[in-house]
Amino acid sequence: MDADIIRILIPREEIARRVRELGEQIACTYERENDAGITVVTILSGALIFVADLMRQLPLKMKVGLIMVSSYAGPRTSPGEPKVIHGLNTDVAGRHVLLVDDILDTGGTLRMVRRRLEEAGARSIRTCVLLRKPAKAPPDVQADFIGFDIEDAFVVGYGLDFDDQYRNLPDIAVLREEIYARRRGGGGGNDRFASPNDQ
Ligand code: XMP
Repeated sequence: MDADIIRILIPREEIARRVRELGEQIACTYERENDAGITVVTILSGALIFVADLMRQLPLKMKVGLIMVSSYAGPRTSPGEPKVIHGLNTDVAGRHVLLVDDILDTGGTLRMVRRRLEEAGARSIRTCVLLRKPAKAPPDVQADFIGFDIEDAFVVGYGLDFDDQYRNLPDIAVLREEIYARRRGGGGGNDRFASPNDQ
């Protein structure tokens, strides 16, 4: 796996430090205004590792909700139209929701999930992303809590994938261009690379 990586963008120690800071910032925000607890809604699968770490930094009463969305069909590195693969598994009506995603890139995913939470009657919605590509994030989609602003490179690790792989890398890294090129071009009848990719 390491041979597929060209460079580490954010090492694990830096991620851990920033997740602790985000936890303090988020806890402080909600403690001030609400003691009824929050619902942490996570967008799967990319935010899986981030949310597991973040939740343990939040000493708040909380419920947890999951929604699975896919924007990548096949071995792509640019998102298509986001599609809900599994709908939200909890009732958010009247709840303060913290929506957590791995990355704010073109903003399509957060925009779509946020709209669903509004329609479901959430009392308030705040968003937290580990990464943001500021060069691409559209003005109408903002995150309230942001881990790191990064360059416009396709990144993997700490939950983020290419073709559903590399999620288990403990750091956030950039893959070698040959990896994308080989899988995009060289299909070779391998269905794995033709199947929809969840996030
Ligand atoms: P949008 O464009 O909707 O993207 O803001 C959000 C979803 O797309 C995935 N995504 C990435 N996944 N490396 C990845 O592994 C990336 O650089 C990347 N950019 C976007 C991600 O799952 C996110 O939730």
